[in-house]
Amino acid sequence: MVADNISKSFGGNKAVDVEHVEIPRNAITALIGPNGAGKTTLFNLLSGFDTPDTGTWEFNGRGLAGIPAYKTARMGQVRTFQLTKVLQRLTVLESMKLGATGQTGERMLASFFPFLWRSQENQIEQRALGLLEKFKLIAKKDDYSAALSGGQRKLLEMARALMTEPEFVLLDEPMAGVNPALVQSLLDHVLDLKKEGMTVLFVEHDMHMVRHIADWVVVMAEGRVVAEGPPEEVMQDPAVIDAYLGSHLDQDIGVITGRYDEEGNRVR
Ligand SMILES: Nc1ncnc2c1ncn2[C@@H]1O[C@H](COP(=O)(O)OP(=O)(O)OP(=O)(O)O)[C@@H](O)[C@H]1O
Ligand SMILES: [Mg+2]
Repeated sequence: MVADNISKSFGGNKAVDVEHVEIPRNAITALIGPNGAGKTTLFNLLSGFDTPDTGTWEFNGRGLAGIPAYKTARMGQVRTFQLTKVLQRLTVLESMKLGATGQTGERMLASFFPFLWRSQENQIEQRALGLLEKFKLIAKKDDYSAALSGGQRKLLEMARALMTEPEFVLLDEPMAGVNPALVQSLLDHVLDLKKEGMTVLFVEHDMHMVRHIADWVVVMAEGRVVAEGPPEEVMQDPAVIDAYLGSHLDQDIGVITGRYDEEGNRVR
């Protein structure tokens, strides 16, 4: 994905002001930056959930500016939300099936050719069951989504995003609030997306995870991209350290620079 001159203001506050950014294909890119840096806003713009004041961006050579979310999903791009939006009154399997709409299920076609519709329904169900199996949620398929733990909801949200067979996946804080026991499994799923040929952009605050799975890191602060590059390089960058110092005070500096004492504790 290549994006140019993307800006978005709320009142007088310029939440996003990105001159140029590129997200490498078939790689995992981490989008990092302090709270309020504009990461979620940028996700909203790139995925068609919100409209920018200015800017253009393209994915696979096709311009996506002005295209609403349900259409970008059909074009191979999906996203998940920082705060999970699983539909509480649906069962896990029903939520999954709903994740497929937008890509398939052209109603017109279906009403003329019901047999096509039925075979498509069946395909959707098979795909949903396969993904639930993979994400270890199969035992929960008939439970209401509301009954899942926070971590299981994150898994469900990622699984549901994959219903559209995307090429480009945007994950807003996929690990946030997830029990440490589930974190590794989520990380593995993100790595799997790359193995399967997808392009991944994810927001994450934990620098250990970023370092562990990201091929490329984009750093935002105050709406702008302040650094980008491979993780080892970016985390040594003074601008990055400053950006974090601005809002996290000195609390995260050890994480960013990766300085540890002999016992493996972060140096603060
Ligand atoms: N709908 C909105 N209305 C008004 N201001 C908004 C809106 N959405 C975001 N903002 C403002 O835009 C700026 C960027 O917010 P955004 O949520 O994109 O940051 P973020 O990098 O995702 O932060 P976090 O790490 O806390 O999730 C903030 O100053 C925020 O208050
Ligand atoms: Mg956010």
